[in-house]
Amino acid sequence: MKTFTTFDQPTGWPSLAAAFEADLAAGDRIQKAPWGGLAVLGHAQLSALARNPAADGMAPDAAAMADTPAIYNLLVRSVFTKSGPAHRADRAALIAALNLVDVSAIAEAAVAGLPRQATGLDLRTEVIAPVVRAVWASVIGYNEKAALALEQAVADMAHVLSMAPDLSKAALAEAAALEARALSLAALANDAPFSRALEAAVGAGKAADLIAGMVFDAIETSTTGLAACLRIAAENRDTLAATPQCTNELLRLAGPAPMTMRLTTAPLRLDETEIAAGTALSMLWAAGNHDPLAFHRPERFDPARQEARPLMFGMGQHACLGHALVRATLQALLAFFIARQPQIEGDTGVWNILQPSDMPPLKISW
Ligand code: HEM
Repeated sequence: MKTFTTFDQPTGWPSLAAAFEADLAAGDRIQKAPWGGLAVLGHAQLSALARNPAADGMAPDAAAMADTPAIYNLLVRSVFTKSGPAHRADRAALIAALNLVDVSAIAEAAVAGLPRQATGLDLRTEVIAPVVRAVWASVIGYNEKAALALEQAVADMAHVLSMAPDLSKAALAEAAALEARALSLAALANDAPFSRALEAAVGAGKAADLIAGMVFDAIETSTTGLAACLRIAAENRDTLAATPQCTNELLRLAGPAPMTMRLTTAPLRLDETEIAAGTALSMLWAAGNHDPLAFHRPERFDPARQEARPLMFGMGQHACLGHALVRATLQALLAFFIARQPQIEGDTGVWNILQPSDMPPLKISW
């Protein structure tokens, strides 16, 4: 079995399609992960595992995270690292609370908050980040000051929670993890419907843990991912539509969460491979979304695609709980983009999410 090497050098590709092309063409859909366990790249293999109850959440490693106990505490209390009945109970409480959120109204209000005219705004920091911040603040009930503080905390945590962690910034990331938890607890007092329902179901302490455990995806993954989606949108102006299919196709190509982890709780079989209980599974959703067995000419933007189900939000018992929020936000941004036809300066042809700093800055005016 081949060893997965793509992440050894996560630079130099214009897009995720280029990163996974050789492995998928060679048929290496299940590989040995150099950091342990298996790396799963094929669409069919990812879909089968994602729905298998024995491929559950993976708890963080206490020994490996001994130098960052606050980050460890944040992760171990997050829903995505849990498994079995504990996971199912937290997930059910989160779903019930999220069902109270009017995602379309919140997303449209956040996009309506963009200025009427703009000259040379930075796409990521001055257009996408304020929209994402406003959406998450409405859902949880953060005021403007707390929402800005949270965004800074997430940026500081990103030094450790990244594909290439920088442990020289561990102290900063630790303080930020404590700050994210404190801000999440304080936000409960603001009585937003989601937070009120979650607190009623699980108590204030656990509600704050669960909210703090989502802030990285809600802020960082969403901002980076939506910025990449708009780069792809700018490359394909003529075929855009503010529809669910078009948002799906942009998210498939952008791959905002290229990989997440699962852990097997029982032995299972995948194709010809026997997988033992306790095996770490690196779920390469971005690879599956470029698998030519599932998507014809996977590198192409085709908003009319009606093929396999794209996997950018995972699948099955751990599938992303923020997908409706992200989709609604992207749809509102697309409607804005189509209506305003902004001018964009910069290279829109690069959206390598594996190394967000490789994406050249874009200036946008309307
Ligand atoms: C572009 C943005 C986002 C992407 C691409 C994304 C993607 C993902 C992926 C791939 C998973 C793992 C799914 C699996 O194992 O099957 C996941 C899990 C999760 N996401 Fe997101 N996510 C995004 C934004 C958000 C937001 C805004 C929230 C806030 C509600 C969120 C909340 C979660 C939670 C709570 C889980 C864990 C669910 C569980 O383990 O039961 N995500 N996400």
